[in-house]
Amino acid sequence: MSIPSIAELAEYQARRTRLLQTIGAEGIAIVPAAREVIRNRDSHYKFRQDSDFLYLTGFNEPDSVVVLAPGRKEGAFLLFTRPRDKAREIWDGRRAGPEGAVSQYGADQGFVVEQLEAMLPQLLAGRTQIFYTLGEHLQWDAKLTACVREIREVSRRGPDAPSSFIALDSTLHEQRLIKTAAELQLIRKACDVSARAHVRAMRATKPGGWEWQVAAEIHNEFEQNEMEPGYGSIVGGGDNACILHYKENEAQLRDGDLLLIDAGGEYRGYTADITRTFPVSGKYSGAQKAVYEVVLAAQKAAIAELKPGVSSARPHEVATRTLTEGLVALGLLQGDPTELIATDKQRQFYMHGTGHWLGLDVHDVGRYKLEGRPRPFQAGMVMTVEPGLYIAPNTAGIDPRFLGIGIRIEDDVLIGAEGPEVLTGGVAKEVADVEAVMRG
Ligand code: GLY
Ligand code: MN
Ligand code: MN
Repeated sequence: MSIPSIAELAEYQARRTRLLQTIGAEGIAIVPAAREVIRNRDSHYKFRQDSDFLYLTGFNEPDSVVVLAPGRKEGAFLLFTRPRDKAREIWDGRRAGPEGAVSQYGADQGFVVEQLEAMLPQLLAGRTQIFYTLGEHLQWDAKLTACVREIREVSRRGPDAPSSFIALDSTLHEQRLIKTAAELQLIRKACDVSARAHVRAMRATKPGGWEWQVAAEIHNEFEQNEMEPGYGSIVGGGDNACILHYKENEAQLRDGDLLLIDAGGEYRGYTADITRTFPVSGKYSGAQKAVYEVVLAAQKAAIAELKPGVSSARPHEVATRTLTEGLVALGLLQGDPTELIATDKQRQFYMHGTGHWLGLDVHDVGRYKLEGRPRPFQAGMVMTVEPGLYIAPNTAGIDPRFLGIGIRIEDDVLIGAEGPEVLTGGVAKEVADVEAVMRG
């Protein structure tokens, strides 16, 4: 990720200012960066920055910490980085260092990360609340709690000790839930390219091909656009479509089977999350089409609920209702849909939720309930809508034409002031449209 432009610096600054307003004059926020993770022996996984840290700084180096400490005369934004190191920079790449933290990332003060521990007593003294998520960065948990204990021991004679650690859920994560215009630009790009990747996958699919070949088409489209998969791509043909988190992508594609692809590219940290299910041969069978139309109807009905003020529980209720009525119409369930739902009978075929927040994380942050009740939608939220039906191959008492059919249709939707805007409409989902794409 390149050094932020002036416009990007202003965006990060605005995000920090908002967070500072929420935490108040006597709070302090401490957000560590991600660390590098060993893949095997001396190779690392590709580095992925912690999403909270990235959101606040745009700084893409590991082993750093951002501290937002309101009321300091030297400024509230402290960025602790790895030290500059000639030898390591020759081997591993550039480092901004504390000077770059100030000149390139707009920090009020830059320090090397080793200085943070010694500075903690002075930074925490007199603060009542520490906005820091315990349990995620164990090395910092120990240092912070030890520091608070020390302040408490001397606090009878000196400044008050902080009385609580507050996870970032109620502050930073609520802020991340409502996307800014700058974030939406990046999300739109991730969605556009990911939709194109799915179209490319449809065109590349043929009987006798392999799941990994189709995955390669998708990943190539991502990489040609400075993107990478935002999560493990699922490319599951035939029965594999009924394994919700199938990740091997290793089987051959057979004429007559469906192929379910759940893949989304990540652009500058923001990921899309798209699923399409299409016939390997290019034409849905009668049974496949019948199930597909039920899932598609459920998806459209759910999307229509993504409007400001509507309960965020509605899409799942509406999708579950449509799917259950469809299962009865297809003869896969018997009984009254209301009673079937009351006893969760549809769960045999529909065992996951209908959507989740989307952003820097594929399952993005933000609470689904407030005070125990599903929260209403607000403009600026982005959510996936992804109903499915999965008829496992070994299910007893089912018309054999349906066995092994697994279908999910997933789009990413912006809750706009006027209603839902589907961001991933660039890839076909109507039966006739999918078949037309595959023809040519
Ligand atoms: N691809 C992950 C999900 O759909 O939730
Ligand atoms: Mn998905
Ligand atoms: Mn999803």
